[in-house]
Amino acid sequence: MAANNTALHSDSVVDVATASNYKDFTVTHFHLELDVSFDSKSINAKATLDIVISKDCNEVNLDTHTLKIRQITQKPSGKSLEFEIKPFAKYGSILNIPLKCKAGETFQLEIQYTVTHDAPGIDWLAPAQTVGKKLPYMYTQGQAVLNRSFFPCIDTPAVKSTYSATVKVPDGFTAVMSADEWEKGDQPNVFKFNMTIPIPAYLVAMAVGDLVSAEIGPRSRVWTEPALLEAARAEFDEVVEEYIKTAEKLFGPYVWGRYDILVLPPCFPYGGMENPCLTFVTPTLIVGDKSLTTVVMHELAHSWFGNLVTNATWSDFWLNEGFTMYAQRRICMEVNGEAYTCLEAATRRASFRRHLDSSGEDHPLNKLRVAIDPGVDPDDTYNETPYEKGYCFCSYLKNEVGTFEDFDRFLRAYVDKFKYKSIVSEDFFDFFLEYFPDLKAKDLANRDGFEFHKQWLHTAGWPPYVPDLSAADSLIKPAERLAAVWAGENVEGKEDISRDVSDWPTYQVLHFLDALLAKSKLPDGTIEKVIEAYPHIVNDSNNTEFWFRWSLIVLENDYQEHFDKVRAFLGSQGKQKITLPVYQAMKSGSEAAQQLALDVYATTKEQLHVTVRNYVKKILFP
Ligand code: BES
Ligand code: ZN
Repeated sequence: MAANNTALHSDSVVDVATASNYKDFTVTHFHLELDVSFDSKSINAKATLDIVISKDCNEVNLDTHTLKIRQITQKPSGKSLEFEIKPFAKYGSILNIPLKCKAGETFQLEIQYTVTHDAPGIDWLAPAQTVGKKLPYMYTQGQAVLNRSFFPCIDTPAVKSTYSATVKVPDGFTAVMSADEWEKGDQPNVFKFNMTIPIPAYLVAMAVGDLVSAEIGPRSRVWTEPALLEAARAEFDEVVEEYIKTAEKLFGPYVWGRYDILVLPPCFPYGGMENPCLTFVTPTLIVGDKSLTTVVMHELAHSWFGNLVTNATWSDFWLNEGFTMYAQRRICMEVNGEAYTCLEAATRRASFRRHLDSSGEDHPLNKLRVAIDPGVDPDDTYNETPYEKGYCFCSYLKNEVGTFEDFDRFLRAYVDKFKYKSIVSEDFFDFFLEYFPDLKAKDLANRDGFEFHKQWLHTAGWPPYVPDLSAADSLIKPAERLAAVWAGENVEGKEDISRDVSDWPTYQVLHFLDALLAKSKLPDGTIEKVIEAYPHIVNDSNNTEFWFRWSLIVLENDYQEHFDKVRAFLGSQGKQKITLPVYQAMKSGSEAAQQLALDVYATTKEQLHVTVRNYVKKILFP
């Protein structure tokens, strides 16, 4: 395929979410020296940035947030530099270093600083918030713009660099990081990391705690607290290597060396986070039956889509998440078959539909390309659209191209073309049309009602094309029929009500619950009968996805007898995608439900990740 040697569109796009004049210089590598203190919940730190000046300029601006900068020295000259912290946005400040720089010049900036207790990118956990309950714990979450509170950096996904780190922790603790080379330091409490593949700042991640690991495959270990290790090992053993091999077959070589998984304490706010070489996951994936490992397929898929080919600005987040949803489902299809994959997709499509209904179809955040104005925190634009509409767009293109295999081949070429780079949607479009000249000749990009720009990128709401998920009908139909019967609707197959669902796969039960929720409020007395009919799920389930839906059903039906279960559930985990909808449901529920929300918040707010806590606050005290 003829390579397009012209500059990328992304080169001319500016990321408004960084305070850095990153077009004037590049950071080729940076090194962090970190001394972690649980007593003061702070890190005594030094960052050394290798800088190459690309344009004459009078200053170097870096992103920073809540960092206490002590001293900046230029190397090798050893000159101490003046600096100033200037306001930028509510999510960060400018570290301004006035400095006459000439294009081509190279030097190092050595920045001595403290990561303060206020850093939103760092979650400090008390022993009570861990599984072991004995030692404190800390972890970082960089995406989208939080790592500027961890180290001074160019905090835009538009640029990438390698990094290394030396981490000193108190005795008895272990540090892990998103890096491909790990080495023990000369003392038992010193850990050394080296990331030899360039990555954007948001993918630098670290955790420190009472951590141990077990092998789960030839290039994979699972890391977690000792009390969870065996269960975590059993959940991920063998399947992870199967997923990696499948993904390599589909998308090309896995270039990151190791693929390890860190299972975090329950307040981790996401299902998973694709930190390179070391995916972070919620412990709620550990359910004993591998039924939630699709999250691992997702984070693994980011190793190609997001971590190799990266969105240049958060406005094109769909390039990360939409492609990853598509890739996740390709892996899932190979491993679990089409029916299962379509069922998972249908479940999420239903929640995308609910999102559109509740936000209003035309809401500007329901576009694939999101306008992010200066000052707007990219994290505040987060919703289902880049995931599910992005998946639909990829599926639409696959449908135009031909078979799954034809589109897989294109994806391999796409990764190969843009790996280690950051791109915008237009870079993808150009490459796609170049790769498929017939589609270009047909002017696919401008087909009425399906225009790449006008319709797909810039029209809010339901996508113009959704892939056929009917392969899941054999699983979906019984689930929906059963819910309809419970809701007292007149449907064929009344006998379904006594049907044993214990052999249903998890996602089928979840689909049933979604349908039950959609049909709520249920006729009087129904909830009690549902509980009686499925005691094994309503009483014994350890599956958060189940409890999430059950909590919403309880609130929608104002079934106060189970408010204590909702309370316990919210206290047991802190996932953002679960916590926020349940608070929303409590807030718009009965007086008792609203009171429940206030009570739960009062007792659990300290446990919540600061991002999640702020969103809950907005729901409760608008
Ligand atoms: N990268 C995201 C998580 C994220 C997004 C963190 C934006 C911060 C800001 C991750 O890959 C993700 O999408 N996780 C999903 C997994 C699911 C789609 C299988 C989650 O946590 O629910
Ligand atoms: Zn993702």
